[in-house]
Amino acid sequence: MGWLARGRHAARRLRLVVATEGLAETVRRLARRTRRDAGLGDYLAVKAARDAAFDARHDSDTGGVQRLYTLAIDSPNARHGIDHVASDPDVFAAALALLDGDLSRFHFLDLGSGKGRALLLACDYPFRAVTGVEFAAELHATATRNLARRGDPRATALLGDATAVALPDGDLLVYLFNPFEAAIVRAVARRLAALPPERDIRLLYVTPRHRDALAAEGWRVVAGAGEAVLFRRD
Ligand SMILES: C[S@@+](CC[C@H](N)C(=O)[O-])C[C@H]1O[C@@H](n2cnc3c(N)ncnc32)[C@H](O)[C@@H]1O
Repeated sequence: MGWLARGRHAARRLRLVVATEGLAETVRRLARRTRRDAGLGDYLAVKAARDAAFDARHDSDTGGVQRLYTLAIDSPNARHGIDHVASDPDVFAAALALLDGDLSRFHFLDLGSGKGRALLLACDYPFRAVTGVEFAAELHATATRNLARRGDPRATALLGDATAVALPDGDLLVYLFNPFEAAIVRAVARRLAALPPERDIRLLYVTPRHRDALAAEGWRVVAGAGEAVLFRRD
């Protein structure tokens, strides 16, 4: 998308948020974003260096911060989505260390997979399959290119919404890196909780801002470390 199209798109999104959330809530959201951005300077500088190192090592394009309001997203859930930033490799490794046993039983499913960084990282583990679901077409296209370069036949990127995509069969490790707000966390948690009880479904939530929504849908914490929490169904 060119800058003019992005501007029009952002204006449309703003009008939609004002229409659905009201002017006062929109102003509160913009103020929150501005405060957050002001405090993010140092973090973003470190992150940019780490992103560049990762992408140089993996011949990939996974870095940066992509604001969802600048992207084309064909989903009513766009307003509940969180901007794209890629998983940090060290945080990812610490999160995966919470799992014990044979990982080859599990299908790794990243809901909100962005440019596919977590999918590339998951390819280093013996998962049965690795799938990502992303609703922003540009990010999905980048993830598809990244996976093609990686050339791992277990890995697939899908364009779709986390609340509607067909869920893979068998045991699942669902990975969430702070992808969406509470309403969507709850919808996803409810969907996963309804899968047949004989299936082993684990949920690994990194930067778990809405972990209460999981508890409310019958998920219980089995392990946690740093920014990651591992859940199972009750
Ligand atoms: C913080 S990024 C995480 C990226 C990736 N999982 C990683 O770890 O590198 C969150 C991603 O979730 C996507 N997202 C948000 N809501 C979504 C939804 N309802 N369905 C699919 N993707 C969604 C955003 O577009 C964004 O790319």
